[in-house]
Amino acid sequence: MDSTENKEILCIVGARPNFTKIAPIIAAMKSKGKRVSPYLLHTGQHYDEAMKASFFKQLGIPEPDVDLEVGSGSHAVQTADVMKKFEPVLDERNPAAVLVVGDVNSTIACALVAAKKGVPVIHVESGLRSYDRGMPEEINRVLTDQISDLLFTTERSALDNLKKEGVESDRVVFVGNVMIDTLMKNVEKAIPMAQTLSDANIAANFENTEFGLITMHRPSNVDDEVVLSSLINTLTSLSEQLPMIFPVHPRTRGYIEKYGLLDEIEKSNITLLPPLGYLHLLGFMKKAKVVLTDSGGIQEETTALGVPCITLRENTERPITIVEGTNTIVGSDPEKIINAFDDIMSTGGKTGCVPEYWDGKAAERIVEYLDDWVK
Ligand code: UD1
Repeated sequence: MDSTENKEILCIVGARPNFTKIAPIIAAMKSKGKRVSPYLLHTGQHYDEAMKASFFKQLGIPEPDVDLEVGSGSHAVQTADVMKKFEPVLDERNPAAVLVVGDVNSTIACALVAAKKGVPVIHVESGLRSYDRGMPEEINRVLTDQISDLLFTTERSALDNLKKEGVESDRVVFVGNVMIDTLMKNVEKAIPMAQTLSDANIAANFENTEFGLITMHRPSNVDDEVVLSSLINTLTSLSEQLPMIFPVHPRTRGYIEKYGLLDEIEKSNITLLPPLGYLHLLGFMKKAKVVLTDSGGIQEETTALGVPCITLRENTERPITIVEGTNTIVGSDPEKIINAFDDIMSTGGKTGCVPEYWDGKAAERIVEYLDDWVK
């Protein structure tokens, strides 16, 4: 076979956290002299301007070659729709491999279709484990890793997790964190907070004040009335000490309204915003005194930025952010949240250090490896 022949890699994105991961991979594949070239497929799992289009624009991701437009649905419906609509595209393109990132429903759906057709599957961000099967993402991670041919990891602990599940080490390559590639490339381009607030017609000004940033969208935190009410209650009371900004995911907005919690938030020192684009959120994240979140990616981004993070979950699949970074896990227990918050207010919190290979070059390492690996 001609080793200079161009090889198409069918790259999959579906939901918001996928976009930050695929951006540097596509850019690296498109750089000069590469054997592999991307064909970009968006499943349409996330479709709103704020959940999709603004990420593509801000991160310079080319418009997808195909959009399956699956939209929202139960896990079964969404996963099945992606699978059904993905199969004919895979047949038509006949790529050298399918590359999936992260742990969303689109990730497992496309990996499963490809694996059963004998098309090699590449998984970026493999081996992360929360060991909590109540999280839909954990099921997606375990299954995707089992059926992947090549597994790229972001931290060394991932290999131990994979070995325990019988994945051979020679399929696993530690390359670092592509999301941090995106962060490093964009941190100076972050949109100033004042601009985001004025665009949203919000008079509050956070330029000369310390503030906290909240993000929350996990079903375990937002779907249940008792859990969500308790979290909102704790956060509104903390906002008396430190004003907070809270861009609200559509899922969370729905439950806040359903459970009648909007009034309590609006009376507090929490400023609500619609979901933000990547550069908009970064403008707040890099200046925050503390970030309170249940996101996976934000635990890593705050570690890379050196900003203290309180994680509103019982566990994390990204332990390096605890051991080396700025992250503290507290779950949804009010006392633990308040203790971690008080500690940050009085000591400034963990300073941490940036983990190995979170250096802005993970995507380059991936593409260099693929250029040799792909048949
Ligand atoms: C998904 C991922 C999660 C990721 C999150 C980031 C899975 C299992 N979960 O969760 O890992 O952290 O994305 O946002 O894949 N909606 C809109 N507009 C959109 C998209 C969604 O309004 O563009 C609303 C719909 O009401 C939808 C709900 O948000 O039902 C949930 O969307 P979905 O994609 O099912 O899951 P997320 O909670 O976003």
